[in-house]
Amino acid sequence: MPPTMAQGEVKNTVENRKPNLKPPTASHYSVRQKIAEHRKSLPIASVEKRLVEEVNKNDVLIIVGETGSGKTTQLPQFLYSAGFCREGKMIGITQPRRIAAVTVAKRVAEECDVELGQRVGYSIRFDDSTSSSTRLKYMTDGLLLREALLDPQLSRYSVIIVDEAHERAVHTDVLLALLKKVQRARAKPVSERTVNGNGGLRGCQGRKLSPLKLIIMSASLDARVFSEYFGGAKAVHVQGRQFPVDIMYTVHPESDYIDAALVTIFQIHLEENPGDILVFLTGQDEIESVDRLVRERLQHLPEESRKLLPLAIFAALPSEQQMRAFAPAPAGFRKVILATNIAETSITIPGIRYVIDPGFVKTRHYEPSKGIESLVVVPASKAQTLQRSGRAGREGPGKCFRLYPEREFEKLEDSAKPEIKSVNLSNVILQLKALGIDDIVGFDFIDKPSRVAIIKALAELRLLGALTDDCKLEDPTGYQMSRLPLEPVYSRALILANTFNCLEEMLITVAMLSVESIFYDPREKRDEARASRNHFTSVEGDHLTYVSVYRESDEFLEKRRKESGENKVDKIMKKWCIDNFVNHRSLKHARDTYRQIRGHVEQMGFNVSSCGNDMLEFRRCLSASFFLKAAQRQLDGTYRALESGEIVHIHPTSVLFRGKPECVIFNELMQTSKKYIKNLTRIDPLWLAELAPHHYKTDE
Ligand code: CDP
Ligand code: MG
Repeated sequence: MPPTMAQGEVKNTVENRKPNLKPPTASHYSVRQKIAEHRKSLPIASVEKRLVEEVNKNDVLIIVGETGSGKTTQLPQFLYSAGFCREGKMIGITQPRRIAAVTVAKRVAEECDVELGQRVGYSIRFDDSTSSSTRLKYMTDGLLLREALLDPQLSRYSVIIVDEAHERAVHTDVLLALLKKVQRARAKPVSERTVNGNGGLRGCQGRKLSPLKLIIMSASLDARVFSEYFGGAKAVHVQGRQFPVDIMYTVHPESDYIDAALVTIFQIHLEENPGDILVFLTGQDEIESVDRLVRERLQHLPEESRKLLPLAIFAALPSEQQMRAFAPAPAGFRKVILATNIAETSITIPGIRYVIDPGFVKTRHYEPSKGIESLVVVPASKAQTLQRSGRAGREGPGKCFRLYPEREFEKLEDSAKPEIKSVNLSNVILQLKALGIDDIVGFDFIDKPSRVAIIKALAELRLLGALTDDCKLEDPTGYQMSRLPLEPVYSRALILANTFNCLEEMLITVAMLSVESIFYDPREKRDEARASRNHFTSVEGDHLTYVSVYRESDEFLEKRRKESGENKVDKIMKKWCIDNFVNHRSLKHARDTYRQIRGHVEQMGFNVSSCGNDMLEFRRCLSASFFLKAAQRQLDGTYRALESGEIVHIHPTSVLFRGKPECVIFNELMQTSKKYIKNLTRIDPLWLAELAPHHYKTDE
């Protein structure tokens, strides 16, 4: 799993942002009027009073409503107007996805006519727009979990809205369990709480805490699981507005759904009435290749038929680019939005009339007995499929093209498995331990993860040095690891790198691993791409290659800035990326991430040193860090993962694909047609016993 799956703390506050004092113009008024009309037209608008009453009456309330009915954008505004932010309290709205937190906060700030970061803000890992004036705070659920480490009573919040609960993301589930505890603690008389009750006037510490209101929002009609979990909590249904959607199936199964999607895109574009198209794909790579293929095929069409604009939307896309998908298409153009399942319920893109659904989703899969987590592409569930087709009928009748035969639909699972049942739990458990929750097996999860998975994660945390033999947080390593916003194995890698004097190299590595694909590898120019990258390809493996890509781009940037006095970082970087077949978007993201994590480790008192050209030391550090994922070559050229005993193959994108070294460590295992390992470094097998003697024994 990439290191950034975990959520983290905050940076970059805009404490001193000035309010916008420009005088309003005529167009400003018309925009305001349009927004007011839009808000009034949403299904949720007619039940504002009732919802506020229900929140007043119930400490836990479940709100169920169709996607697009206005839950996420409107409810916080209703509660703000109803006085829930008195005395400086905040309303927190959590999302499983970063992108949803950002786009929705921007939209709500616009609706409120305030600058982002003032009354309305967002806070996600490595990016925080909030200030002391923020009252409506959109954030990821992982981030709120981290806030609870510092403020266990969540004392700054009067209301927490847990959004998209139906997705059952692992952090949402853990957050719900934690909120249940916090709510109980805040319901107790002040004298019984751990909070200092001196009645002081400043800050939250001495104040009497009001009870915490908890609202759970879901787009799935079945609220029972949440209601039961909260002791029979009340559920309110918000009536949606949905136009009919014609569902089309293919006659035969499609062997290549990418190609089928392309054919369908052009068929709609050339034959159907105006309206934008939304295509559900499984990830960044797929989206980028479809984007490219659409642009290429457009070149073969007559000039007047070329008005089709592909736009991508996926979690790792920088937010300013995500926002482009929301803007209306230029006059005469049709947009084709290429999205991951993010567009199922978390975000609503206006203008969609046509949905293309190949029927797949990329999801995490974990086999605790083997201790290996992988990303797999699996058929979407019925619930997901219905949400997808629903996206075509938001503004008028629509059409949905399912790229599989109708009989396949009936075979789909009703809904996706809660994520907590299919992930490595080490991150969750480390956080619970840091929150003072010791009994993990007895913890009140909505859906209990398997005992094997818990035991395995505890064992892994002990091996990583985060927990003591009796499963207490190890001091200081366990505390340090829980505070870094990374998966435990990467936090551990940084801590180790500090002792190996290669912290800078490891920071770069972790940042580069946190983005999906650094290299731009168009199929038709693969050789050219490889050749142009030859000079920074390391024979030792992908990690060292990433370090040189990062450094070389940095040196280029510095040189160019000095030479030309230019300060256009983006422009310079873009040029370098194009010349070297590097994905500009990903590199930019990695550079931001580097800066943020570096800030964290510096705060922890680490001195960021570099091993210079001594890459041997860095490789040894990689072995010491990722010893749980080592693989050894076998006689037939395949590899055996030492921990699980599985047969794996080096992924073709690895720089070691052809080299086939005897022993490697890897970061990711991916299952497509075969089991592939990605992000590798060649190591000496003897290092494993030397550097991880608690796990590997040498043969006597
Ligand atoms: O949460 P729910 O799915 O119920 O709806 P919402 O996200 O609050 O969206 C309500 C409406 O606001 C939708 O019709 C969207 O088109 C619009 N919206 C928008 O125009 N731009 C955004 N960034 C978010 C929402
Ligand atoms: Mg929503």
